[in-house]
Amino acid sequence: MAVDPLIELRDVNKHFGELHVLRDINLTVGRGEVVVVIGPSGSGKSTLCRAINRLETIESGQIVLDGQPLPEEGKPLARLRADVGMVFQSFNLFAHKTVLQNVSLGQVKARGRRKEDADKRSRELLDRVGVADQADKYPAQLSGGQQQRVAIARALAMEPKAMLFDEPTSALDPEMINEVLEVMRQLARDGMTMIVVTHEMGFARSAANRVVFMADGRIVEDRTPDEFFTNPSSDRAKDFLSKILKH
Ligand SMILES: Nc1ncnc2c1ncn2[C@@H]1O[C@H](COP(=O)(O)OP(=O)(O)OP(=O)(O)O)[C@@H](O)[C@H]1O
Ligand SMILES: [Mg+2]
Repeated sequence: MAVDPLIELRDVNKHFGELHVLRDINLTVGRGEVVVVIGPSGSGKSTLCRAINRLETIESGQIVLDGQPLPEEGKPLARLRADVGMVFQSFNLFAHKTVLQNVSLGQVKARGRRKEDADKRSRELLDRVGVADQADKYPAQLSGGQQQRVAIARALAMEPKAMLFDEPTSALDPEMINEVLEVMRQLARDGMTMIVVTHEMGFARSAANRVVFMADGRIVEDRTPDEFFTNPSSDRAKDFLSKILKH
């Protein structure tokens, strides 16, 4: 596949005190590509995502988005956060705002849209993720799966160049996992560039172009899902797969 890089990490390193949490990370994500990141707890997956959104700083190396090094502060940083949508395990919606307000807020603040235009787009997006009828409720009145779909709509409302998902379904009851994964699958089919940290191996198999396996702050494997699941090359990945596929 012709690589048109959208996200590039080059020799990225980061410590938390003594802990070397990202070690010489090199990763290129092409436009429209879906990369699933898996690995044991503490291997640095969330830190990697947060670094791409500059929620964490890095000590050395470079992160490039769409040909530009990540901005460090000010308005360009706010733009970056809008350009790279992030969805976390916890839904992070504003509790005291309605669903519609949650999705419209950033469009007005960061993209400078008129409120009416923002609301119109919000309703379209809420419809797209299947929660149009929840627009006037407050987050606490929604199920976890519905809240997570609102969080996705809110990120999409900014017209991001890429989306980062950090275990978006791991706080959900089992019956709600699929409705969120289905929204993500559709997004992938529509050509969104995505980095997805998840333990949902079915999603990795069906939606990912590549699987990146991390352990101890390193990328240990970076391969197609088919290659990764049928023939992992490292003992770390074999061990990890045998554990998660067992339960
Ligand atoms: N702000 C922080 N300060 C100090 N240590 C941190 C901080 N954030 C993360 N860490 C440590 O860095 C390591 C990597 O954390 P990270 O959250 O990136 O792992 P992860 O792969 O996402 O794990 P999990 O699967 O449990 O979510 C862990 O050992 C964690 O304790
Ligand atoms: Mg994590």
